[in-house]
Amino acid sequence: MHHLQLTLAALWASAAAVSCLSYVPLAKKLSKTAQIYQPGSDDFNAAVLRWSNLSTPVANIVVVPGTENDVVETVKFANQHRLPFLAINGVHGSITTLGKMTSGIEIHMSQLSSIAVAKDGCTATIGGGVMSKNLTDALWAAGKQTVTGTCECVGYMGPGLGGGHGWLQGRYGLVSDQYVSMNVVLANGNLITVDEHSELFWAMKGAGHNFGIVTSITSKIYDIQHPNYAMETLIFSGDKVEAVYNLANEQWLTNGSSMPVDLVNWSYWYFDPTTDAEKPVIAMYLIQEGVQTVDAAHTTPFLQLGPITTQAVSGTYRDLAAWTGISLNSTPCAKTGNANPRFPIYLKSYNPTAQREVYDLFTQATTNASTPFSNALFMFEGYSQQGVKAIGQDATAFAYRADNLLVAPLLTYPPNGPAADAVASKLGNKMRQILFEGSGETSLNTYVNYAYGDETPVAWYGSEQWRQDRLSALKKDFDPAGQFSFYAPII
Ligand SMILES: Cc1cc2nc3c(=O)[nH]c(=O)nc-3n(C[C@H](O)[C@H](O)[C@H](O)COP(=O)(O)OP(=O)(O)OC[C@H]3O[C@@H](n4cnc5c(N)ncnc54)[C@H](O)[C@@H]3O)c2cc1C
Ligand SMILES: *[C@@H]1O[C@H](CO)[C@@H](O)[C@H](O)[C@H]1NC(C)=O
Ligand SMILES: *[C@@H]1O[C@H](CO)[C@@H](O)[C@H](O)[C@H]1NC(C)=O
Ligand SMILES: *[C@@H]1O[C@H](CO)[C@@H](O)[C@H](O)[C@H]1NC(C)=O
Ligand SMILES: *[C@@H]1O[C@H](CO)[C@@H](O)[C@H](O)[C@H]1NC(C)=O
Ligand SMILES: *[C@@H]1O[C@H](CO)[C@@H](O)[C@H](O)[C@H]1NC(C)=O
Repeated sequence: MHHLQLTLAALWASAAAVSCLSYVPLAKKLSKTAQIYQPGSDDFNAAVLRWSNLSTPVANIVVVPGTENDVVETVKFANQHRLPFLAINGVHGSITTLGKMTSGIEIHMSQLSSIAVAKDGCTATIGGGVMSKNLTDALWAAGKQTVTGTCECVGYMGPGLGGGHGWLQGRYGLVSDQYVSMNVVLANGNLITVDEHSELFWAMKGAGHNFGIVTSITSKIYDIQHPNYAMETLIFSGDKVEAVYNLANEQWLTNGSSMPVDLVNWSYWYFDPTTDAEKPVIAMYLIQEGVQTVDAAHTTPFLQLGPITTQAVSGTYRDLAAWTGISLNSTPCAKTGNANPRFPIYLKSYNPTAQREVYDLFTQATTNASTPFSNALFMFEGYSQQGVKAIGQDATAFAYRADNLLVAPLLTYPPNGPAADAVASKLGNKMRQILFEGSGETSLNTYVNYAYGDETPVAWYGSEQWRQDRLSALKKDFDPAGQFSFYAPII
């Protein structure tokens, strides 16, 4: 009895210590433009709102640094008071491991939003809080481009830390392949600059969430070479699954080849009762750079399969996000309060038998009367890969240059307690397992930035032992206490 009281008293004291902690000493060290948002304020609520409302990180306070040094001061303050901290930017990180953060400081990077093109026009220095669309627009105005994520509402940094897929990767490689140097605040609060001479630089390009807060980055940029784009959308009914994916393999993915460099090819499955009242449709997007209409060589074989509808559009690079439904105004960018787990797998080619099996399961899951998953989206992303494959397999911590397709169901559903979450997790894992077994691969390859959260570091960072060893050694050196272990932790 006495013992229990003591424990409760101790707990009470520590809880009180957290809630009564004064941030005035921190505020005094920050620049004039820095902000501190207290819980309950509108600014706080807006800053902590997440894209996926599943296993979300929880903070007691939000700090919005105005300078790179403000990040240093905030990390040092957090360390002094043993508070957890997490950098946030586009709030689209959805991995369930983030839920392990149950208190502490969210460091909201939005004010570190500067973009400066170097005099020689070959690089740009980009703040650690820049959003993808802001970067695209700013570079475009200067006649320049670089690889960014395709989705307009996501941060620029977030995707790159895990590798980073984008429209231009067939030309130049991944988002992170463009990095020339970066300023990083380490777990101990030191701000360092890393570049190709630093071992840490290797890890920042694929496993970056585990090592520090990037306050700014210098990236290669390029003259705009192919401003124009065209897209052909072909909507097929579900009975064409085998035909469509057999053809995709034949056209592009046989004999060790991948997508042509100028072509990006996505497909989505979703249930749209206005087009097909019974089954999800297959929506194919054939996106080609430098043309007004997609080459007939690409479209004709698919047209011969008999789509329900086809639609052609033309425009520029900057229209691509709207065309594929991921612009700032598109539904997938909206914060709806839904849980948005994905269950990603990388593939080399399609297995039409597995595609059929998973389609049938997806049909059952999206169309039955009592399902919470009627708005689920199955994504098949076939980016061109030349620029990605041109870079050595071991050059960065991103492990999956040999794969061709990024595939994932996105099981959007309204949160309804742990039992509903368990149904989603079981269903998503089952879908992924079908594709994995059909792939003939021996290890599950997943994109860390789409990961659900129950995968292993082997699946996020590559099954080769040397990768695991190298990352573990770096983690011990740079983040021994695991302060950067909320997002897909290495250990
Ligand atoms: C609609 C949608 C579209 C997407 N499109 C793409 C795409 O085209 N290509 C692609 O590769 N991925 C894409 N993704 C996945 C994307 O890479 C991840 O969701 C990514 O985590 C988003 O970063 P964020 O800044 O928006 O999210 P946040 O939740 O703000 O950040 C995610 C994590 O990144 C870390 N972090 C953020 N900023 C910093 C920083 N400055 N320094 C250090 N760590 C930091 C933190 O660990 C944080 O938890 C997409 C996701 C969604 C939801
Ligand atoms: C980024 O882009 C958004 C939307 O286009 C705009 O509202 C915002 O002001 C931009 N931010 C910066 C820092 O330029
Ligand atoms: C793939 O290789 C086989 C055997 O060399 C050949 O018959 C076939 O035409 C090739 N397919 C493509 C799409 O190049
Ligand atoms: C997130 O989900 C919880 C239930 O798990 C719900 O109470 C809350 O309102 C949701 N948040 C938003 C912003 O919709
Ligand atoms: C409907 O789909 C959900 C999700 O897959 C599943 O749990 C449920 O059993 C299905 N119900 C019926 C009647 O098929
Ligand atoms: C490319 O698009 C076609 C339809 O236009 C589709 O059948 C195929 O699955 C896609 N291929 C890849 C690699 O995504």
